[in-house]
Amino acid sequence: MQIKDVISKLTLEEKASLCSGQGYWHTQPIADKKIPAILMCDGPVGLRKQNKMEDNLGLYDSVQTVCFPSTSTLANSFSRESLALVGQTLGSECQAQNVSMLLGPGMNIKRNPLGGRNFEYYSEDPYLTGELASSYVTALQGKGVAACTKHFAGNNQETYRMSGNSIIEERPLHEIYLAAFEKVVKQAHPRAIMCAYNALNGTFCSENKSLLTDILRDRWGFNGLVVTDWGAVKNRVKGLLAGVDLEMPGGSGAQDKNIIEAVRSGKLDEMILDKAVLNILTFVNQSINNQQRDATTNLDQDHQIAVKLAVNSAVLMKNNNNLLPLNRDKQLAFIGEFAEKPRYQGGGSSHVNSYHVDTALNWARSQHLNINYAQGYDQDKITPNSALIEEAVSLAKKSDVAIIFAGLPESFESEGADRQSMAMPENQDALIMAVTEAQPNTVVVLHTGSAVEMPWQNNVAAILNMGLAGEGVGSATGKLLFGENNPSGRLSETYPYHLEDSPSFLNFPGEEGTVHYRENIFVGYRYYDKKKLSVAFPFGSGLSYTNFTYSNLQTSSTTIKDTDQATISCLVKNEGNYTGQEVVQLYVEPGESAVLRPQRELKNFTKVLLQPGECKRVSFTLDKETFAYYNDQIHNWHVESNSYTLSIGPTSHNLPLSVNIQVTSTVPIPIHYTSFTAIGKVVKNPLGKKVVLETLREVLHVTSKQYQESSTSDQKKIDQQCEPILQSALTMPLSSLVSLGSMKSSDLSQLITNLNTKSSLKK
Ligand code: BGC
Repeated sequence: MQIKDVISKLTLEEKASLCSGQGYWHTQPIADKKIPAILMCDGPVGLRKQNKMEDNLGLYDSVQTVCFPSTSTLANSFSRESLALVGQTLGSECQAQNVSMLLGPGMNIKRNPLGGRNFEYYSEDPYLTGELASSYVTALQGKGVAACTKHFAGNNQETYRMSGNSIIEERPLHEIYLAAFEKVVKQAHPRAIMCAYNALNGTFCSENKSLLTDILRDRWGFNGLVVTDWGAVKNRVKGLLAGVDLEMPGGSGAQDKNIIEAVRSGKLDEMILDKAVLNILTFVNQSINNQQRDATTNLDQDHQIAVKLAVNSAVLMKNNNNLLPLNRDKQLAFIGEFAEKPRYQGGGSSHVNSYHVDTALNWARSQHLNINYAQGYDQDKITPNSALIEEAVSLAKKSDVAIIFAGLPESFESEGADRQSMAMPENQDALIMAVTEAQPNTVVVLHTGSAVEMPWQNNVAAILNMGLAGEGVGSATGKLLFGENNPSGRLSETYPYHLEDSPSFLNFPGEEGTVHYRENIFVGYRYYDKKKLSVAFPFGSGLSYTNFTYSNLQTSSTTIKDTDQATISCLVKNEGNYTGQEVVQLYVEPGESAVLRPQRELKNFTKVLLQPGECKRVSFTLDKETFAYYNDQIHNWHVESNSYTLSIGPTSHNLPLSVNIQVTSTVPIPIHYTSFTAIGKVVKNPLGKKVVLETLREVLHVTSKQYQESSTSDQKKIDQQCEPILQSALTMPLSSLVSLGSMKSSDLSQLITNLNTKSSLKK
């Protein structure tokens, strides 16, 4: 039977009941009408299926399953393939557990290092976020399991997370905060999207028609299911009018009554309710069709995938004198409780009941390495423990190399609360300082889901950032430390020296529930680079045990239109002795622009595996997206006619190859002239320029007639005399022509009309 026929046979009460879930994790079934319940679960990085007690905060247990690296860590892989691998693996696990939808991935932009759920998000960069999320969603849905991208939108902090109001101007909203959602919707077609708890520009996302219908459905073409975040509904009827289909979790039925009453009283057109029911039943139907009843899973194999992903995501931040990889014959000190009880995942709704957690200590022992261990600190405490520190120092002294396992305890990074500072616990900083005084060959292995301050950065010889590496953390760390694998991750967020340096420092988390995104589009490296602020570790940075060189940049064309495509490519060679993967990054930098633009923006990347001595050509496609910014006058992406520098290299701060490309716009932008339009803008229009120059000549007592009758050399002299007057008039309003020359007010009005009707377009 067609879904529309099913809907025509449902009573009003039944339709209303379908609009919210059954309990925490199911859609509402209607047995009489053969409508089954569909199961959805958290699990962006590991399935969180609850069989007994249910909750959305990570309080009660879930079935045991493999915990993959956190989203923030996977993003450090800069690898679409890695994200596809997680999506596929989770898809198979979901099929084996009869789960039809995974509530993820989280795609919010990391606006501030303190964001409590930063570990659940990809990056400070919308391009990287959108590309990686698209890979994940495509792979997950390829296994027949729906993705539910979240939290839509402007949900970048935990303080006032259920009631806050994010005030974001149109350009940063689209260019930074919506861009990744736009990409994933258009590129990977997620079957569902979760609207956020917070309000966006004064309207709760769960009631925001502009967001959920005008932008999401009408402009981007989304045709899936809009689900609320758990408990995000304020007014269910307003939600339906805005475009919310399914409220989660299911409640007491009070909202059903509100819907029924609103239809009966004429406040809600039943057609709108039918639309939501159609989206819900389409989702139910697809889910049933996609279920693989005989699917099984192999958690041991998936554990090995978790190890591989952790290896691929680790970032070697520092490696003085090539201290790493370590020699297996050396006497080594493993220091820090995380070596024994690792920190490998975040807290809250994404928390996984892990299958088998590897520890670095167990891995080293299994390899029969010369390791001694000192706890160094207690991860449940903050104040330094001098006995533990002394023990660690004396062990470090007796060893050839000290490896300190440090980072943020889980209580520091969890859904529901932002961090209070960017510092690591005092007991760990003190330990690292003390050990480095005793042992210059000190390596820090870092476990964190977001940027931390590192007062000891200059004192340690090497830093290996494992992020929150999932349950394979121990083996992955060991394999990297001892050179079985070569680190290849890159930072998907900047590590500033201090919290105070971060662009949103003065406007995070806002006041009394309202947060103004005053830094505009200047988020993450877009800010640090524009301000030329030095940072501890830049966006996109990361080292390798081998060296790569870049050469032979080629482009298919150096002058293109914004409707064209072109290619840019270069050679990358492994010049060292280790097999390694290089992340090749493409950045674009516009020439002088009419609007404020970032210094440079990431526009593509790829990861290439090279044997020692091997060389490969890496190629990227250039298209409109490479050059566009969001223009709030036309309410759309726009490419300005301009020259653009395209640069390729291993990090945002090291781009050895570059070329200029001239791009011509095919989309005119209408200009609306008024008496306040600046003369500088008016002279860009040929008609405006003519009138302005005539007026300026009048200041010099040269009439149009006299000017036209003068010789070319005299005209040149007059022009030269006009130039300084024009320069000083550039920011004056157009109306000042009336006071400067003999122009009458009526002439000015005529001029404005002419400017607005004739040739008032810029490209
Ligand atoms: C979180 C969501 C999560 C949901 C269900 C909410 O508190 O914000 O990310 O998917 O709970 O657990």
